[in-house]
Amino acid sequence: MNMDVIVSLCKRRGFIFQSSEIYGGTGSCWDYGPLGVELKNNIKRVWWRDNVQLRPDMVGLDASILMHPLVWKASGHVDHFTDPMVDCRECRRRFRADQVDELAWLHFCPATKGNKFTIPPGEPCKHCGARRTLCPECGKGELTAPRQFNLMFKTFMGPVEEDAALTYLRPETAQGIFVNFDNVLQSMRPKLPFGIAQIGKAFRNEITPGNFIFRSREFEQMEIEFFVNPHDQLDGRPADERWHDRWIDDCEAWFVRYGITAENLKRHEHDADELAHYAKRTVDIMYRFPMGWSELMGIANRTDFDLKQHAKTSGKSLTYFDEERKEHVVPYVIEPSAGVDRALLAFLLDAYREEEVRGEKRVVLRLHPELAPLKIAVLPLLKKRPEIVATAGELRETLAREWRVVYDDTASIGRLYRRQDEVGTPYCVTVDVQTVGDPDKGEAGDRRVTIRERDSMEQIRVPIAEVPTIFRELLGEGSWSQVFARYPRANP
Ligand code: GAP
Repeated sequence: MNMDVIVSLCKRRGFIFQSSEIYGGTGSCWDYGPLGVELKNNIKRVWWRDNVQLRPDMVGLDASILMHPLVWKASGHVDHFTDPMVDCRECRRRFRADQVDELAWLHFCPATKGNKFTIPPGEPCKHCGARRTLCPECGKGELTAPRQFNLMFKTFMGPVEEDAALTYLRPETAQGIFVNFDNVLQSMRPKLPFGIAQIGKAFRNEITPGNFIFRSREFEQMEIEFFVNPHDQLDGRPADERWHDRWIDDCEAWFVRYGITAENLKRHEHDADELAHYAKRTVDIMYRFPMGWSELMGIANRTDFDLKQHAKTSGKSLTYFDEERKEHVVPYVIEPSAGVDRALLAFLLDAYREEEVRGEKRVVLRLHPELAPLKIAVLPLLKKRPEIVATAGELRETLAREWRVVYDDTASIGRLYRRQDEVGTPYCVTVDVQTVGDPDKGEAGDRRVTIRERDSMEQIRVPIAEVPTIFRELLGEGSWSQVFARYPRANP
């Protein structure tokens, strides 16, 4: 898959636009357009349903983005949430020191009278044998020594810009959960093990953002902090370790369930030198993105680090009373942490297909129906026939009470189908002359419409009165093959 193809589709069809584009754009911030916001909301909705609504051991939370600055001191973000960076003294471009050797570099080769070459990362110049010592981007400037750069965005609370008013835009949603641990415990009385889930914005002043929405400076996270009694055993193993394995399996299965090809996923176990300061073990679920295998989400065992840190810094007890053992414990926490935007990118990439249909190219997004931004397109075959337009309009109105539906009469039926395929709409309903008949000739219509399925392009003819029930089946627990078997085929 080529990222440019997806970027172009996203802009052309209203999924994702560059932020503040008319002013030249804002570095690595993105706006979700009419279809993008639907897709994103659908991802968040199914994630919330599967991880909160359907689980007896989970509750939700929506904490504020601005928090007390001591939160970030206690969590370690003020001291540790840094990346080493280097600057080019000539062009002033900035790079992550640990990634600079992995970039292709620009070289003015002395052996070829200073000709300009772009040399693959890590390789020497074929002509003069030199290795990169200067800026990879301009090929002229020396790079500064590495400096630690904190990724948190600073801001000031209140009207005075002074140190006492300094705070941060949260770089992860997780801390909002830890600082509310006792509030949830007191108000909801959950028993261990239990989880608190949250979806919300996070901000990081990334040194090298890029690859479209993969790494941006403002993004959304879907995080769970799943609290476990560290003294418990499960299946003969420490409960935290067993729950960690369960969450890794469940998270991977969730992506496959909503359309990600299993072969495009793999796991990455963090080595000791890669582990975050708070983690006992971390496993990333990696996706085969166009730029190579990269992290889709991480599942960390954060132990009791965060609760203990916040208890120490705030002076408030953050423990759970174990009724059986009659003791206070600080729970361990398993943290499945996914980026909404990264998930959305993976779903789009995996769904994209270019197919040949009757000698023509068809672009289709085979998105899972629950994720598809539009569920149904209602298409009148002839917009000059008022009865067809009125019937299609009424049908749209009926269906729109339950699903996201679009009405389109701005092209020929073939083009309308292609348009819907390209944005992943699973079903189209067409109202035609046969549906309404011809009142001038005294011909009654059959009050049937055509339903077309996106992936197979199969079409059936169904009574208009049955359309809502059919979609309740198709967009619920039923399948196209079951419905297809019950109704006569329509000619494509
Ligand atoms: N609370 C743990 C935590 O935040 P992380 O690995 O830094 O862990 C979790 O982030 C997930 O958030 C990542 O796997 C990724 O999906 C998403 N994410 C992180 N930084 C991002 C960025 N700059 N742009 C888009 N998504 C990002």
